[in-house]
Amino acid sequence: MMLGPPGAGKGTQARRLADDLGLLHIATGDILRQAAAADTDLGRQAAAIMSQGGLVPDAVMIGLIAERLGDPAATGGFVLDGFPRTVEQAQALDELMREQTGREIDAAVYLDAPEEELVRRSASRRVCRGCGANYNLISSPPRRESICDACGGGLYLRDDDREGTVRRRLAVYRDLTHPVTAYYDARGCLRRVDGLAPPDQVYQDLRRQLAGLERA
Ligand code: AP5
Repeated sequence: MMLGPPGAGKGTQARRLADDLGLLHIATGDILRQAAAADTDLGRQAAAIMSQGGLVPDAVMIGLIAERLGDPAATGGFVLDGFPRTVEQAQALDELMREQTGREIDAAVYLDAPEEELVRRSASRRVCRGCGANYNLISSPPRRESICDACGGGLYLRDDDREGTVRRRLAVYRDLTHPVTAYYDARGCLRRVDGLAPPDQVYQDLRRQLAGLERA
């Protein structure tokens, strides 16, 4: 699983790791944004909370993860991105893993970077409306302005990437999510990776930290 504050690079690294190792990428923020775009009950409830920088209730998120872990695509292993976000979610995940997979979490990767960098990255992130691909106007811009390289869709700024909302998300992270790192540290499976380095370097460090676990 990937842990760390908003903008630390969890999604960027999780997508690459899942692709390279043939794992299922389970990104709760993406699932909620898809539900919001489809205007489902969950999507409407989540969109209102996300735009304020808050957290969707634990019971809703735990139900959603239980469904994903039951997906046959998850049997070969998965990378969790954006979950767990509270100690209650981490405890529920332990129970779900025991009941549904008979396995334990192999590693919790903790990515971090200084707050001003996190705010800058979020403000310069652009997401494709068509395929959900992520770009960054500073570190990984699209070839054509506001157009997705992969599918030609239009790019937009996430509602919750405006500075005031990012700072609220960071405060929520400090209060409710950061304690999750201690939960996995106590279990001996926390791996710290410097998220400030360029994305390729972060990835190399991440793979070094995971060496020995892959396909265990
Ligand atoms: P979510 O979508 O999970 O957002 P987040 O955790 O706040 O993370 P971000 O997507 O902002 O950042 P990231 O760390 O993935 O970085 P990324 O790789 O994208 O959740 C959104 C909301 O959904 C939450 O606020 C909450 O409301 C709700 N939610 C989701 N899960 C929940 C849960 N379990 N419980 C309750 N509520 C939940 O990178 C960011 C930018 O920086 C990109 O533009 C990228 O290209 C760039 N970048 C990445 N790495 C680097 C680098 N090394 N150098 C330079 N630029 C980089």
